[in-house]
Amino acid sequence: RPAKKPKLSHLTSEDFKNGIFLAPMVRSGALPTRLFALKHGATLVWGPEMVDRAILHAERVTDPVTGVVSYNGKSRAMFTTHPIEKPYLIYQIGSSDPDLAVQAAKTVMNDVSGIDLNCGCPKPFSTHSGMGAALLTNPDVLCSILTALRREMPPEITVSAKIRLLPSREDTLKLVERIVNTGISALTVHCRTRNMRDREPAMVERLREIVDFVEGMGRGVAVIENGDCTGWENAKRIRALTGAHSVMVARAAESNPSCFSSTPLQDVERTLVPSYIRLAEYLDNHWGLTKFCVNQFHGTHVDVRKADAKALRQALSKSKSYTDSVLKESIGDDVSGKEEFDKIVKAIE
Ligand code: FNR
Repeated sequence: RPAKKPKLSHLTSEDFKNGIFLAPMVRSGALPTRLFALKHGATLVWGPEMVDRAILHAERVTDPVTGVVSYNGKSRAMFTTHPIEKPYLIYQIGSSDPDLAVQAAKTVMNDVSGIDLNCGCPKPFSTHSGMGAALLTNPDVLCSILTALRREMPPEITVSAKIRLLPSREDTLKLVERIVNTGISALTVHCRTRNMRDREPAMVERLREIVDFVEGMGRGVAVIENGDCTGWENAKRIRALTGAHSVMVARAAESNPSCFSSTPLQDVERTLVPSYIRLAEYLDNHWGLTKFCVNQFHGTHVDVRKADAKALRQALSKSKSYTDSVLKESIGDDVSGKEEFDKIVKAIE
């Protein structure tokens, strides 16, 4: 990881440069995943998108033992975080309304370092209400949200945006120019258009002219590449190819949150999965969410102890809570959840 940030300092656009970041991911970007990503070299982490209204009436509760901060809705925690990730945490908002976006940002701003606007989600639940990728073709609203966030947030909170490419180069640059002029610190470009599916290769080759263009504007805004990065080694290649200041990783990190390291964990079943479950239990992460995240993890080499791996997966699928004996037996009790947490604190502080 780059030089550690001095404590109590806040982020600037420079902190969005020379980095490798965990992308915003609904469900998959849960608190334990973000902590593992930071432990293994991610320099900043994005939280999962939260629609502006969803957080407004949540009750903020701090766990006196672990320090976990939960924003609780009527029936569940909408968003959970921990103070140790605050210097690196960017909170992503889904919005089509400047006032609501500002209210949502004000609700969480003491627990995060930056606010990001999602301008790329192509799913109908976002676009129907004018959010996500719908903002790409409604730049007045998009820029009014960013302008309002920049005006209303204190200077120590960064404002950033995550967009997709528009089909034409000219339209993309026009949009980028307007966005950069709102005063943001960083712009993530997911190198696919709104209609492209994730299995289609990202059009990374289109990024260089965007980077050159933004640099030419002279405002110091960081341009972050997103799309198809597989990890640390690959991020170096993508930066060399595109000139991007940083790279953001989604699916590869969903499969293995240690992919940010130059030496990612290979044997995920034996190493990451037990640690993750112990940490998640300690942090009281929702069991269903933990199970979902663990089920996305996949190692990168053929596991020589395949039988063990299979047994762990079976134990996980049979278990209905952290305390199921079959799960406990399978992950062992040589390390406690608190020790897992302390290892993370040591690695990232
Ligand atoms: C996403 N993506 C996403 N994007 C975003 O801006 N906000 C979000 O909350 C989510 N949620 C989300 C969940 C899951 C499970 C996936 C796989 C993806 C999109 C993501 O951040 C990224 O832009 C794309 O996945 C492309 O990057 P990769 O996967 O090629 O590295």
